Amino acid sequence: MDEKKTIFSGIQPSGELTLGSYLGAIKNWVELADTYNTYYCIVDMHAITVRQDPAQLRRRAVSQIAQYIACGLDPKDNVIFIQSHVPEHAQLAWVLDCYTMFGELSRMTQFKDKSAKNADNINAGLFTYPALMAADILLYQADLVPVGEDQKQHVELTRDIAHRFNTIYGDVFTMPEPFIPKTGARIMSLTTPENKMSKSDKDPGGCIYLLEKPEDILRSFKRAVTDSDTVVRFDPENKKGVSNLMTIYSAATGKTMEEIENEFVGKGYGDFKLAVGEAVVEQLRPIREKTEDLLKNKDYLVSVYRDGAERASHAAYKTLRKVYKKIGFPEK
Ligand code: TYM
Repeated sequence: MDEKKTIFSGIQPSGELTLGSYLGAIKNWVELADTYNTYYCIVDMHAITVRQDPAQLRRRAVSQIAQYIACGLDPKDNVIFIQSHVPEHAQLAWVLDCYTMFGELSRMTQFKDKSAKNADNINAGLFTYPALMAADILLYQADLVPVGEDQKQHVELTRDIAHRFNTIYGDVFTMPEPFIPKTGARIMSLTTPENKMSKSDKDPGGCIYLLEKPEDILRSFKRAVTDSDTVVRFDPENKKGVSNLMTIYSAATGKTMEEIENEFVGKGYGDFKLAVGEAVVEQLRPIREKTEDLLKNKDYLVSVYRDGAERASHAAYKTLRKVYKKIGFPEK
């Protein structure tokens, strides 16, 4: 009998992976991988809620597989797959659409943000996005969902949907918990530290990408917005830029905020920004090098995601069959 609990998490291939998605999510996926059954997905079906260039979307999905592996996820021990390869996600999403309320979806912050940014394309998929996300999580009976702060609301809605369904039909779904890191749950843009670092924003210099070259990373940190003060002190209210850089430095080195404050007593922001940039470069260097290697072997990456889809389908089919039976669909 398998005693291990289950993790599900995913990232949209709607842009290149960023330092935000690494510190907010992937780093924890790797840390939790040994003690859980893990499903890590490239959620391409979510990505089309905003218009995508087809060639870019395809390329990014495969590159994301390589980056997951390069970050330390061994495909033998972790199920790594592409959402559109497992049709049960769409099938369960439709069922859950019928158990998710209009009012609940209207309150979702991501929907409000994305509607504002894509005013000419507020499509139905953008609105029902959280029901598809609930399907992702509930299909695998996940206990834990490691995500950044911005996704907490969606995981909480998933719990409400699961609870509603279970109240009617008995214990069909496991109740998932969000897992939000203490440091790195919300990495902000380096140029506009009041905004989240986001892969889909056109914010050159504000965003650090996992595959960026060291000199570009260092340049972005050198230009990062700080304040007119000169003290390295953690104060997210009044010193947004500096506090964000401290968070990144802390996540990259394991140092506490107090240790960081002491390290830079009497030193200027120039030294501080250089130290943060160098720490990030060193953290990302092996990931970039391994990804570049893996991308030379497309056949291997294809074999990883095919095997992943097969293993994911096995679990997903089991849950979907149970759901169909409970709601009264005749068996085939
Ligand atoms: P997405 O693709 O926007 O982001 C992927 C993960 O990275 C985290 N993240 C951040 N964490 C800290 N600081 C940041 N600046 C930052 N930017 C991104 C996100 O919180 C997320 O954990 N809806 C999800 C994808 C999804 C999903 C799922 C996640 C679809 N189905 C099921 C978990 C379970 C999203 O848009 O994440």
